[in-house]
Parts: sequence; C-alpha cells; structure tokens
Amino acid sequence: MGDVLLTLVSPFPRRHAPALHAWLTTPAAPNFDDFHSSDYANFLYALDAKNAAGSTFAALENGKPIGFAAIAPASPVLAFFAGVVIAPGFRGRGLGRELLGLVWDELQLRGFTKATASFFADNAAIRAAFESAGAVEEGVLKRAAQRAGELVDMRLYSFTASQSDKT
Ligand SMILES: CC(C)(COP(=O)(O)OP(=O)(O)OC[C@H]1O[C@@H](n2cnc3c(N)ncnc32)[C@H](O)[C@@H]1OP(=O)(O)O)[C@@H](O)C(=O)NCCC(=O)NCCS
Repeated sequence: MGDVLLTLVSPFPRRHAPALHAWLTTPAAPNFDDFHSSDYANFLYALDAKNAAGSTFAALENGKPIGFAAIAPASPVLAFFAGVVIAPGFRGRGLGRELLGLVWDELQLRGFTKATASFFADNAAIRAAFESAGAVEEGVLKRAAQRAGELVDMRLYSFTASQSDKT
C-alpha cells in the first residue's frame, strides 16, 4: 500500500452532514452504541454542538471529505475520541490509520498529552487502525455499552505523548 495524503480540517463541513450520517450507519450492523445510532435530527443536533466546540475533524482526499473524527475534551490534557469513521467505499486503504495519526498530531498541538478511545471489543478494524497509528491497548471495560439492546465489552486504546515530545 502506497502513502496516501489526507488533509485534516476542523470542524467537519456541515453541508456534508447527510453523507456523514450515512457513513456512521453503514453497515447496518452497528459499530456505535445505541445512544449514538440515533435518528437524523438528533445526529445533526449533536454534530452542530460538536462543531461549535471545534471538536470535529474531516479528512479530505483531493478536497473531498472521506473521513470523520470527533473528540470530547475531559480536561486540558486528556481527550476522548467520540466517533471515528471512514466513508464505506474508502475503507481498507490505510486512510483510517492516517486519519487517527493526523488527529493525534493536531490534539498534541492543542496541548493534549493523552487521547483515549473506547470501542466495541470485537471491532477488529478500529482496533487494528489504532494499533497501526501507534496507540496502545489499555484494557477492557466489561459490559460498558449497549449494542442492539445487549450489554457488550469496550476496549480502551490510548495515544500518549512521550516526555521527549514536550519542549
Ligand atoms: C474502523 C475504520 C475507521 C478503519 O478505517 P480503515 O481506513 O478501514 O482502516 P485502514 O485501512 O487504515 O487499516 C488500518 C489497519 O486495520 C486493518 N484492518 C482494516 N480493516 C480491517 C478489518 N475489517 N478487520 C481487521 N483488520 C482490519 C488493516 O489491515 C490495517 O492494519 P495494518 O496497518 O497492520 O496493515 C473503518 O473501517 C470504519 O469506518 N469502520 C466503520 C466505523 C467504525 O467501526 N468506527 C469505529 C467505532 S468508534
């Protein structure tokens, strides 16, 4: 796989909200917990709030959005990932790994020293993407989210700035 060049912009362009909603709900088998797989009106309300806070990112390939990530700051130094997705036709090309690397670079520029993600423990694609981008597994939260009405385990991965990164 050759190098690909994505551009990261923030916030996610609102005119692409319908496409993003489709990405988040494809495939139909949910990758996100029941709270997040809500209807379009709720999705748009949440996107507007996150965009206003500057906590969403779009990955552009040739100027076109093909990826999305959101974060939620927990403190000035700790951020949580709050959704990561690559458009369905673009998955499996290394773009998820590249998006995560770009977001982590940007978060460090904003002063964060740690960024943690939790995702369904059996989501092999996002686990591999985080690992490949340099994040480290930190454990499993048992029965921590609801998927299709069932409680399931969540896996934790984090990026952590090394001391030598700080000037
Ligand atoms: C998870 C997701 C963002 C990964 O993005 P992607 O562009 O498909 O992933 P990449 O092509 O960058 O692959 C990164 C690594 O994951 C591996 N991978 C990709 N898809 C995989 C799959 N279905 N199963 C196992 N590993 C997979 C790749 O081989 C690669 O590993 P490597 O770096 O060791 O070679 C994307 O598949 C997606 O949007 N899925 C639906 C939404 C989702 O599940 N989001 C996470 C919930 S928070």
